[in-house]
Amino acid sequence: MNKHHFSPPLNFNRWIEEHAHLLKPPVGNQQIWQGSDFMVTVVGGPNQRTDFHDDPVEEFFYQFKGNAYLNIWDRGRYERVDLKEGDIYLMAPHVIHSPQRPEPGSLCLVIERQRPAGLHDALQWSCARCGTVIKRYEMQLESIVTDLPPVYERFYATSEEERRCSQCDEIHPGRDWQTWHQTLSEFHPA
Ligand SMILES: [Fe+2]
Repeated sequence: MNKHHFSPPLNFNRWIEEHAHLLKPPVGNQQIWQGSDFMVTVVGGPNQRTDFHDDPVEEFFYQFKGNAYLNIWDRGRYERVDLKEGDIYLMAPHVIHSPQRPEPGSLCLVIERQRPAGLHDALQWSCARCGTVIKRYEMQLESIVTDLPPVYERFYATSEEERRCSQCDEIHPGRDWQTWHQTLSEFHPA
């Protein structure tokens, strides 16, 4: 029987209750099963960010508690996809997205696939004013939990000059997401 599953069936509500302390800052997400092809995670709020994720595989979202949204970067233009409570959403590969979860206590089920060798993920940061890419880091992703944080730190360690937009001179504020979002809303009102 054990070879047929990764765990006995779990009561999802009970799993949420037992992991509630990890589904908020500073951790914010938990993967339910390890070693599976489907990476099934629950992501909680609040969490806001300035990085955009380029995923070579599809991502499934079920925003089952509270509201969230995705900022989308499409060849220098910004768009927004709202994930309202109860929404399910299937995102195509390589849609460059930045999940925003402003509501404390919000919860989203996210399912991605392990990346086949040679299919690379990337994290990128772009100018809130004009959309130009400031930095982009590509990687063969093996673990969502351990492979991404070092990339954030690498970007946050850059100097202001390294974060200066080559097109409009705006300096990306690094880990200061409030400032980045403020600039985005000024230059790209919804
Ligand atoms: Fe710019």
